[in-house]
Amino acid sequence: MELARVVRRRRMVRAYDPDRPVPGDVLQQALEHAIRAPSAGFSQGWDFVVLTEAADREAFWAATTEPAQPADAWLLGVRTAPCLIVCCSDKGAYLRRYAEPDKGWTDQGEARWPIPYWDVDTGMAALLMLLTAVDEGLGGLFFGVSAERTQQARSALGVPDDRRLVGVVAMGYAVPDRRSASLRRGRRGLDQVAHRGRFGVPWSSG
Ligand SMILES: Cc1cc2nc3c(=O)[nH]c(=O)nc-3n(C[C@H](O)[C@H](O)[C@H](O)COP(=O)(O)O)c2cc1C
Repeated sequence: MELARVVRRRRMVRAYDPDRPVPGDVLQQALEHAIRAPSAGFSQGWDFVVLTEAADREAFWAATTEPAQPADAWLLGVRTAPCLIVCCSDKGAYLRRYAEPDKGWTDQGEARWPIPYWDVDTGMAALLMLLTAVDEGLGGLFFGVSAERTQQARSALGVPDDRRLVGVVAMGYAVPDRRSASLRRGRRGLDQVAHRGRFGVPWSSG
């Protein structure tokens, strides 16, 4: 599919056909695209825990959600996803990489980092997986694990303590779902977000 079409068609999908697994070649492609994401210093500090077995997904949901809310429409929908890809970032990989001779930050100090690029890069990898899903005729959703449930999720999946759970890509064949209420906000236009030459100068003034 043409890139512009993929970008425009992408939307977060919150209900899936539970009987149609993600084809192996699509999943493989999504993961191969993920590792093509850019990363600071080519640190590649990311890991992806892929849950395609029902028991593994159940363990994830049990660890991350409240059993007391079985009627949660969001959860009922997203739980139908036949594949979950838990995206983890690895701060240590960046601190070590930037202490190498060509970078030279030998103190491995975190204070040097203006923002956590480990999370940024992992997010870019997640977007490539979402776009791959659309390109292959599937859908996806990126969602987060709540702060209170992070430790339980980590234990359920065996994720080491030095990794951060940046978010989860759900993937599968879309079925009709409810539009997110957030979309009522409307998309911010280019004149609100793009500044020509200097902050505050509208893009359309050029
Ligand atoms: C970092 C991040 C976290 C998100 N977390 C959730 C979430 O927990 N649950 C959910 O349903 N959607 C989540 N979304 C999806 C957004 O609601 C969605 O991207 C936004 O409403 C725009 O809709 P669209 O992506 O379908 O165009 C998240 C998106 C991002 C980028």
